[in-house]
Amino acid sequence: MPLIDSYNRTIDYLRVSVTDRCNFRCVYCMPEEGAPVAPRDEILTYEELERLIRIAIELGMTKIRLTGGEPLIRKDILTLVQKIGAIPGLQDLSITTNGYLLSRYASDFAKAGMNRVNVSLDTLHPDRFTRIARRGNLDEVLAGIYAAQEAGLTPVKINCVAMRGWNDDEVVEFAKWTLEQPFDVRFIELMPINWSKGDDSMNSYYALSAPQGYQPNQKIQLYADTDAKSFHSAFRMKDTNLQAGQLDARELRRAFISAQEIRKRIEALLGAMEPAEVVTNGPAQSFRLPGALGTVGFISQITNDMCVNCNRLRLTADGYLRPCLMADGEVDLRSLLRSGASDDEIAERFRVTVYHKPKEHRLEDGQAPVGRNMSQLGG
Ligand code: 5AD
Ligand code: SF4
Repeated sequence: MPLIDSYNRTIDYLRVSVTDRCNFRCVYCMPEEGAPVAPRDEILTYEELERLIRIAIELGMTKIRLTGGEPLIRKDILTLVQKIGAIPGLQDLSITTNGYLLSRYASDFAKAGMNRVNVSLDTLHPDRFTRIARRGNLDEVLAGIYAAQEAGLTPVKINCVAMRGWNDDEVVEFAKWTLEQPFDVRFIELMPINWSKGDDSMNSYYALSAPQGYQPNQKIQLYADTDAKSFHSAFRMKDTNLQAGQLDARELRRAFISAQEIRKRIEALLGAMEPAEVVTNGPAQSFRLPGALGTVGFISQITNDMCVNCNRLRLTADGYLRPCLMADGEVDLRSLLRSGASDDEIAERFRVTVYHKPKEHRLEDGQAPVGRNMSQLGG
């Protein structure tokens, strides 16, 4: 019996953040000095994670994805993958990683029962990599991607957060990659996670100089288009915060670029793409360039309402079950686990969370999550 929510969506997918720490500092996610992290004793142990995931699978969840922060920096992550890989009833085990440590784990992950990986990569230029991720380096990430391909953790998905003025001039390059490699490149619309707090994550965003080739006055012209308008309506609340002296929402709107615009730019140069079926692609809409080995996908959660097909819950590294990425509501599982609750009591809390899963996000009404960073939510 699968879990069904109040809007008749089947909830069969659990995203599990295994750590809120990260070895990168992506500009849209974290300040340079890192986001606040939970004390170690609040992070679920492998035994606790294994138990929760087993209960979720017994409740009818079939897909598990490990996320972070950066999951590969958690100590002995392979042990956890092995434990989860051995749980009966699991159909699809995957991981989302920044790829930096992936080359050393890929083949062991595959042996432990992992099915596939998603690697976050926003640029194919080494200097920009340093500007956007601010740690690590491009070569290691590429080595990780190829190691995953080699290990059969396929289809390897490449998640690229497109940002105007940062990497938007690379979308065609990314698309061209799929002509020669069987990767599923997916462009993700920039999302407003924890931006309205006006905290360090935004300050660090501004601390960066604009990428080469973009002059400040050029920006204004580049950014003045319809995307900015749709983004604006999604972020009314940020303007209020801005008046309170907290943060500048204009930079966010400027960096935002819609999936539709990316698609237009790719097709203008490379020709029309055919819709492609990618079974494991969740909310992404996928296309294929003529003759391409891989696909080009778009995750347009800002400009397109994807909530109607949402099939997931999230578990934070500190043990809270979260029914919606874009809303702050969470249910505490850690206290329950640590107070000696039975499997049935925990299962009941999963059901309650599913019951309360919101129908859709309310970004257009100015509601954006502020309680946690993306590194605490796992994307
Ligand atoms: N908007 C869109 N994507 C984001 N990610 C992190 N923060 C944001 C954001 N604000 C992406 C990462 C990674 C995935 C887990 O989420 O780049 O691909
Ligand atoms: Fe970048 Fe992901 Fe790390 Fe955030 S958690 S800094 S998006 S690699």
